[in-house]
Amino acid sequence: MHHPDPPNPLPSPASRTNLTATLRQATAETHATVEQLPIMLRLTSSSVTRDDYRRYLQTLAILYARVEAPFYNGLDDAVRERLGVRPKLPALLRDLEEQGDPAPTAIVEPDPQTPNVIKTRSTSALVGGLYVLEGATLGGRTIARHLRRVLGDGLGAASFLDFHGEQTSAAWKRFSGALDELCADGTLLPEAVIAGALVAFQDIYRRLEQASKP
Ligand code: HEM
Repeated sequence: MHHPDPPNPLPSPASRTNLTATLRQATAETHATVEQLPIMLRLTSSSVTRDDYRRYLQTLAILYARVEAPFYNGLDDAVRERLGVRPKLPALLRDLEEQGDPAPTAIVEPDPQTPNVIKTRSTSALVGGLYVLEGATLGGRTIARHLRRVLGDGLGAASFLDFHGEQTSAAWKRFSGALDELCADGTLLPEAVIAGALVAFQDIYRRLEQASKP
């Protein structure tokens, strides 16, 4: 008896879902509110000054000192390696030093806020948080270009904002491809990555909003 071939259970690469596209949609609203924070509006304004840039670096150094390490430390080396991600705090501290600013003392003080993101701790949720920090390098490169136009050499290396430099899109392709592979092999649960990204983005928004208050 003739049996027809069973349908191919594996989707073709083209029809495979792209998790970063879904993440972008899911976090678009929070991203838009972050862009409207006074500290961000200063940075993207055509009258931005070097002092605005320095204040931004100070604020982001405190933020990253609090939120970044837990996302990295909670992950297996193998997952981190596949995503190709590196912490950004060292670059922030280098940029501050270049601007003649000491590292803010608050980065060694205990976190006054409940680190709610940090308690969820599944691999998927942690990777959702890394999506937010890694995705920020895309907009960072655009902001660095704007600052270069306005501030010229006063901007310095901008090694945090332009973290991947010429490699920005290559690094993003690698990260985004790894997310899809880790979903396909069952290491990550897409829904949990999305939930983790939302919690992380909202936490970052809240911290930036508080830091923006006079
Ligand atoms: C003034 C503030 C900001 C501006 C103007 C801005 C701008 C942008 C732009 C233009 C992109 C798209 C880049 C591209 O597709 O090549 C982007 C992507 C992104 N930004 Fe921002 N950004 C800002 C702040 C932030 C902050 C503070 C975070 C989080 C810490 C963040 C997280 C992200 C993420 C996760 C993406 C990737 C979206 C995706 O393609 O999946 N952004 N941003």
